[in-house]
Amino acid sequence: MPCVPLVAGNWKMNKTVAEAEQLIQALLPRVASLDGVEIAICPPFTALRAMIDSAFGSRVAVFAQNMHEADHGAFTGEISVPMLRDVGVSGVIIGHSERRAYFGETDERLASKLPVALDAGLQPILCVGESESQRLAGETESLLRRQLEAAFANVEPERYADVAIAYEPIWAIGTGRVATLEQAQEACAFARSVLAESSEEAERTRILYGGSVTAENAAELLALPDVDGALVGGASLSAESFAAICAGALL
Ligand code: 13P
Repeated sequence: MPCVPLVAGNWKMNKTVAEAEQLIQALLPRVASLDGVEIAICPPFTALRAMIDSAFGSRVAVFAQNMHEADHGAFTGEISVPMLRDVGVSGVIIGHSERRAYFGETDERLASKLPVALDAGLQPILCVGESESQRLAGETESLLRRQLEAAFANVEPERYADVAIAYEPIWAIGTGRVATLEQAQEACAFARSVLAESSEEAERTRILYGGSVTAENAAELLALPDVDGALVGGASLSAESFAAICAGALL
């Protein structure tokens, strides 16, 4: 693992402010001594401000789950990067498969988001990953290549290490069907090799695995040579589980 691992909890559309408060208060003492791993939570927009206040001075960073590429304008229901910076957000998930599947996010759209996030100093986590039918058809690598090349189209090679990638096979998300260690390593190594064709910084790009990560399977996934962290959904809604996953990055 060439860099400090990043473990991020994607809370998706879960938690009112009061519920989020309970979760972070349970989480903070459990991760306070975990030096050597970067930890982020990604609450819904409505809880960002409260989580930033509560996480102040702790090891936990607060990321958003999405952003719009324009600074402001007539984009009903959207949130811009200056708005995220204004409340103290330090990173953002881009192109989660749920955004791609349910909200029509395209690779081209993501290509315009990535440089905006980077220019504002946000840590982007770009999500990529194949569906079950794509895997069965032997299309995993061509899909990963297409998603990565499209999303990085406007990123300078010297900035590649400022982007984190999350390899999230869609068939593993929320299903309990975690990728095998071999599948996770193979896909993450392939993603790195694609980035390495364009940038020497690819060695330092953090590549996370996501999809049914639990306290039980995290340590062995995080120990894989090309896995530099985890993007955690369901298990991040429990302070105990998420803290155990974060600790797994140190083993
Ligand atoms: P699960 O951990 O619930 O499978 O979700 C993964 C995910 O989509 C994180 O972004």
